[in-house]
Amino acid sequence: MAERYSWQQAWEQTLTGAHGFYRDNPPATHFTTSVMFDYEVASYVSGLIRDFDDENELIVTDVGSGDAHLSLALADQLIERPWIRFEAIDLRPPPGLLPRSIQWLVGDARKLSLHPARRIVIAHEFLDDIPCERFEVDEWGEAHLIIVTDGEAMLGPPLADDVACAHLDVNAAELRNWLDRWWPANRPFTRGEIGNTRDATWHHLTGWITNGFGIAVDYGHLRAEREAGTWDGGTLTGFRGGRAVSPIPDGSCNITAHVAMDAVAAALPDCESKIKKQTEVLRGGHVAKPGGLGDFLWLTQEFADT
Ligand SMILES: C[S@@+](CC[C@H](N)C(=O)[O-])C[C@H]1O[C@@H](n2cnc3c(N)ncnc32)[C@H](O)[C@@H]1O
Repeated sequence: MAERYSWQQAWEQTLTGAHGFYRDNPPATHFTTSVMFDYEVASYVSGLIRDFDDENELIVTDVGSGDAHLSLALADQLIERPWIRFEAIDLRPPPGLLPRSIQWLVGDARKLSLHPARRIVIAHEFLDDIPCERFEVDEWGEAHLIIVTDGEAMLGPPLADDVACAHLDVNAAELRNWLDRWWPANRPFTRGEIGNTRDATWHHLTGWITNGFGIAVDYGHLRAEREAGTWDGGTLTGFRGGRAVSPIPDGSCNITAHVAMDAVAAALPDCESKIKKQTEVLRGGHVAKPGGLGDFLWLTQEFADT
């Protein structure tokens, strides 16, 4: 019998499995992000860091650092403040010629535990890479899990069927709760992504901050848009060789899906959050990849010692 996986399980293989996409593929060979493009993001973030800095120890942690463009630019722009330390985390080894001011940590950021500190955590185009489940609503308005069998995506069990989902090692109740709160899905043939894993990842990363702030920048959407049907086709996309391709979970392309930024923000209910469009944050309002026009959101959250 053909093996069946949930979409998240298949996607996870393409990220961290033996044939994981990033194992042999530096990000810059397959797509261009805003931080590869110019220094506007870095200049804005270093301005925030300067405003926050009081000359005490401070760590800037760039999660999913990729080819280190952002870390390099920040280290350069903040060179006059030698007490600021830079850490970059990625599944990949460091790029060549990394200055000693940047400490590179190889690993899965979801599993690393860094000591809580005065820290700025920045995740630039990171959360969209975090595998998550997908759903599709059938013609009668019932949401189903999307599964992968022999490499093909297809309609799986209804999310209301706890037992069938449990056979796939999927916690259906958790997914239903997320959908009820963030993406009430009953319009026939709606497809989308279930963001609970991104929320949990952000919760984990910001747990490393005692005092400071977290910044997540990504292709994103908000509940009002999801309710209005703006994203009813889903946002899953593949990238290979600089082009958008079908997101086939076989390790041949980078797979990405937009981030439900309001849900991510709510993973930390007790801190002050701001969500803005990239076009409001940056003068040029850059667009990073084809298909990403205007979808970039910035989440900034402040944390203070209690
Ligand atoms: C889309 S690239 C963005 C790179 C960089 N932040 C930028 O904006 O140019 C995502 C990066 O996150 C890394 N990554 C993905 N999942 C990861 C994980 N769970 N832990 C650590 N790094 C991860 C990938 O290896 C890749 O370098």
